[in-house]
Amino acid sequence: MAILKIARMGHPILFGRAESVELPRSAEIRRLVSDMIETMLDANGAGLAAPQVHVPLRLFVFRVPPERAGSGPEERPVPVTVVINPQIEFLGEERVLRWEGCLSIPGLRAAVPRHARIRYVGIDCEDQPIGAVASGFHAGVVQHEYDHLDGILYPMRMQDFSRFGFTEELARVGAMEGAG
Ligand code: NI
Repeated sequence: MAILKIARMGHPILFGRAESVELPRSAEIRRLVSDMIETMLDANGAGLAAPQVHVPLRLFVFRVPPERAGSGPEERPVPVTVVINPQIEFLGEERVLRWEGCLSIPGLRAAVPRHARIRYVGIDCEDQPIGAVASGFHAGVVQHEYDHLDGILYPMRMQDFSRFGFTEELARVGAMEGAG
């Protein structure tokens, strides 16, 4: 196990399209996933995509902590989960603004428009299918991590830059209260 160095915004690897994983059960992928989980938890993050640790492959890890979960079945807490070669489908047209941060953009947060409800599928390290219909935080974190695989960082999704700021300052002025 190892804590990996996280690429920060400005590093070109964050803006490329990642390649599909050919051998999800390989020792290299298992090692990568294990290290990504350790890195995500160490940084107290909710998600981490392989390009963020300088590996241009289509996989990410995420979790829905109990304090970010909702009451509905699609917003339940999710333990640490790996999704390899994900595909995502947007269910309906509804979009919501959600406050997001990113381990590659430390210290900042923004209200980002996301699809309210999605279905995603992928495989795990046993090459078994994995996926869910998700809404709430679960839907948001999966869209955020999936975007990393296509070289998209959350500021590229933003429409209202007045709701982009330093986490500390946003908290100080109460800007994040009562929203996503
Ligand atoms: Ni991110």
